[in-house]
Amino acid sequence: MEEVLELIEKKKQEFAKAELFEFMRDKSIDPRQRLAFAPCIAHFAMSFGELNQSIFREEPTNDPLQAMINNHTYEDDHHWLWFLADMETLGINNKSLKFSDALNFVWSEQLKASRLVTYQIFRYAFGASPITKLAILEVVEASGNVFLSATASIAEELRSITKKELIYFGCFHLDVETGHTTGTPDVEQSIKNIPLTIESRQEIFEIVENLFEIFTKQIAELLVYAKTHSFDQPFTQPREILQPLKAA
Ligand SMILES: [Fe+2]
Repeated sequence: MEEVLELIEKKKQEFAKAELFEFMRDKSIDPRQRLAFAPCIAHFAMSFGELNQSIFREEPTNDPLQAMINNHTYEDDHHWLWFLADMETLGINNKSLKFSDALNFVWSEQLKASRLVTYQIFRYAFGASPITKLAILEVVEASGNVFLSATASIAEELRSITKKELIYFGCFHLDVETGHTTGTPDVEQSIKNIPLTIESRQEIFEIVENLFEIFTKQIAELLVYAKTHSFDQPFTQPREILQPLKAA
C-alpha cells in the first residue's frame, strides 16, 4: 500500500498548485469573494452524511481495516451540518430563492463537476473492499486538506472583520480532519505495509488518478464561479465581476 500512499501524496502536491488556491490567497480580492463559491459545494458537502453512513460504514465487522474506516465515518458523517451553519453565517440564507430555483442551482450545468465528484466517490466506494475504501478516503482527506487549509485562512480573515466564525470552511473543520484517515504514525506504518496484489494495486491506482482528476475539474469549476458571481448575489447569471472588485 506504500506506493498508493506515495501516489496520493504526489497527486496532492499537484492538486495544491491549482489556480483556485492562488485565487484564494490573493489578498487584493475581498475575502468574501474568494469564498463566493461556497454554495456551489452543496451537493458534495451534503452527500457526505449518507456516504459515510451507508457506503463507507459496514457494521458489524471483524476486519480491523473496516473497523478503522467505521471509526472515521462516525467522525465525518455530520459535517454537512457545519456546511449548513456556514450558509447562515455567510449570509447565503438571506437570499430569497424559490425552492425550485435552489434545486436548479444545485443541479445546474455550471456545477456538474462538483456533482460528478460525489457520484464517482459513491461509485468507487459502493461494495468496495476495505483497502479500496481506505484509498478513496485517503484521496478525499488529502484533497480536503488542501481545500480546507485554503478556506480556513480566508475564514480567519473574515473572522477578524465580521467577528463570526465559519465552521465547515474554518479552522474547526480543518483541525478535525487530519489529512489522513488514521491518526497515529503506528497505524500509518501498518497501512503502508499492507501488501496488494498486482490487480488491486492497478485498480486502486486508477481510482486515485481518476478521483484527483475529477477533484481538479471541480475546483476549476469553483474558480469560474467565484470569478463570475458576486458573493452577495450568488444565484444570479454569471458575469465578469472580478476586475471592479480588484480595483476597489
Ligand atoms: Fe469533514
